[in-house]
This record gives sequence, C-alpha cells and structure tokens, in this order.
Amino acid sequence: MIRPIISLPDKRLRAVSKPVEKIDDEVKKLVADMFETMYDAPGVGLAAIQIGVPLRVVTIDATRGEEEKKPITLINPELIWTSDEKGTMEEGCLSIPEFTDEVERPERIKARFMTLEGQTVEVEAEGLFARVFQHELDHLNGVLFIDHLSKLKRDMVKKRFAKAAKREAAL
Ligand code: NI
Repeated sequence: MIRPIISLPDKRLRAVSKPVEKIDDEVKKLVADMFETMYDAPGVGLAAIQIGVPLRVVTIDATRGEEEKKPITLINPELIWTSDEKGTMEEGCLSIPEFTDEVERPERIKARFMTLEGQTVEVEAEGLFARVFQHELDHLNGVLFIDHLSKLKRDMVKKRFAKAAKREAAL
C-alpha cells in the first residue's frame, strides 16, 4: 500500500525513531509499504518516519535506470566507521520536494544493520549506497540533509516550506 509521505514543516521529521525490537508481521508490512511508496515516488531511499512511523527502518534501492532492482532493507542501522575523506554529492529528499543541494559527507562507510530476516550484517560501502545510507540514518535521528547546509540556505528552505504550508492551510 502506498502511504502518504510527510514533508517539511511536519515536526515528526524531527523525531528520533525507536529501535525495532521484533521483526513481526507489522514490521514486514511496513517494509512492503515503504518499498511501494519509495518506488512510486520515485526515490532511492526512505525512512519509516517519512511515512509517519517512528521506527528505525529504512528501505534503499541505489540502482539506477535500467539496472536490475536491488531492494535493501535496513533494520536498526548504524555506522561503525566513516572515512576522513569526504565527498560532495547532490542530494534531495522526498520530504523536501523540489529542492536539491550539494552535501559533503564521508566518502566511505562501514555499517551494521539487521536484514528483514533478522540477520545482522556488516558492510563496507562507498558511492551512492554510502551516501543514501548516511542520509537515511540521519532521518532516524531527526536530522535532514538541509541541516548539513549553511544556516542561510537552511532558513531559506524552511521559510519556503512554512509559507507553502500556510497557503495550503488557508485554502
Ligand atoms: Ni530524505
């Protein structure tokens, strides 16, 4: 089921999500809905809080275009190492529609997470997957990619979305 994606200035985006204690049918249904919602958007990553569920669950598919789809589920993901070397990439967010900007983040990561089958895995990653992983992990901690930009830019984006929300409320 495709679920509505919440966007700025929705305060739930600032919530710190709670760890999943048990991978039950409810969590499995949540993940299925997240993939459906993410592919429909379309996006390369989605955190549960973006559909209003404050659990540490992320879906990612960092393949592009014609490549075969490679859906990855992260339960309780964490970073265990990040490289000192940083890289810059253009980021966007389904919760901050129609705004993108360059964000600097560690180029390579070591990460740990649980699969939907309950298996704990550790991976080393770089490139788009490392980028999306960090962006989505931020969501679980109530952090948005605009928080990595200058205050001036961040305030500009917040103002734009606050105004749009006010216009919508007035209708
Ligand atoms: Ni995002």
